[in-house]
Amino acid sequence: MFLNDDEKAMRDGAEGAAVAAAMDLLIRYGQALDAERLCDVRNVAGTMTQPSPVKARLVREGGWDKAFAVINLDSDEDLEIPSMRVPTCQLQHGFGQDALDIVPYPKQNIELQASAESFYGRHGVNILATCTPYQVGNLPMRGEHCAWMESSAVIYANSVLGARTNCEGIASTGAASLTGKIPCWGNHRDENRHGTHHIEVNVRVDNFQDWGMLGYFAGGVAGEDHPVITGDISRPDLTELKHFGAAAATSGGVELYHIPGITPEAPALGAAFGGRRPPQPVGYGPAERRAVYETLNEIGTSGDVDFVLLGCPHASVDQIRKTAALLDGKRLSASTELWLMAPRALKDIADRSGYTETIERAGARLLADSCPAMSRAAPKGTKVFATDSAKQAHYLPAILGIEAWFGTLEECVDAAVTGRWNGGLT
Ligand code: F3S
Repeated sequence: MFLNDDEKAMRDGAEGAAVAAAMDLLIRYGQALDAERLCDVRNVAGTMTQPSPVKARLVREGGWDKAFAVINLDSDEDLEIPSMRVPTCQLQHGFGQDALDIVPYPKQNIELQASAESFYGRHGVNILATCTPYQVGNLPMRGEHCAWMESSAVIYANSVLGARTNCEGIASTGAASLTGKIPCWGNHRDENRHGTHHIEVNVRVDNFQDWGMLGYFAGGVAGEDHPVITGDISRPDLTELKHFGAAAATSGGVELYHIPGITPEAPALGAAFGGRRPPQPVGYGPAERRAVYETLNEIGTSGDVDFVLLGCPHASVDQIRKTAALLDGKRLSASTELWLMAPRALKDIADRSGYTETIERAGARLLADSCPAMSRAAPKGTKVFATDSAKQAHYLPAILGIEAWFGTLEECVDAAVTGRWNGGLT
């Protein structure tokens, strides 16, 4: 793999042993991928602070330097970790102190995470603590090379922002944060960014639920490739594209899609396929829509709902406001909890706007930093949950062994208030 002088100097230790270990990791990673060179990144979104038993042991043995060396650099050496070389943020992690009496989540995890935040904050990691860094000011430019983890964020960065990132891992983002480099392969290269599958929509898609179901369908069709969507769709907003992308990355492994006339690299159908003839379209009509809905609801049998989960990916201010409006003047069923997940920075806006107070007055909770899937935590005794997120409906039954209902925001709030699932496809 070609290395420029700057990269060779880092490899040879000119910037210290930790940077040399990071460069060594990137070279091994790039060679395994047949990457011809590294590319410069100035935007890394990874995870350093997420608590785990392994991390706790490493911190006991050698502090946070040791934990970063082993987990984020794949190195057994004694390394002193310098400040991040390029802007780096922490994605979602565990719950924080303010969730202590709400979420059944170990106190030692909260303490370990607080210690991690202090260490990494001093080393230049921005603790955004959300799976949606693009909602809280971390917005890479079109064409900008990045090193991001988190499938729902990666697909948003590539498709909606036109930035360039593969779905990176804990070690590759750790190495990128200390070097400002990542192997230049996959989504970083022009020739790999074109559409591969054409999905023609024959049923109106114009709301949050339908964009999620279409995304789930698109992921099933395209797998790890690049679907191109045309047909009877409305112009989506941020929340709908957030839901669409998260669902496509869940049912498949989609990291990039195009919607001609809407997403930035596809001004028209021809451009979405890089000038090549589009493949035969796959139809998404009423029958396909119903099949997706039934798949997402196949685990639900009991109509008694213990738990309602909203905000996956983390909610926008608009989603928080809508939830507060639906809960205004209502009271949750005594047997049901409702958690709405949001970035902490947006929770602050919700606090100041009075939305949090309205939500809490109804007995629901606005929570930050994490989510039940990430932290493997739900209200004690939960057997059945309802959600408006295709991603959570897909994952949470397997992670927590509970039943799921998937529906609209209105149906989910109704379930929280009545304790019963009354949803259905219209
Ligand atoms: Fe975010 Fe958790 Fe969903 S990390 S994308 S809210 S599964």
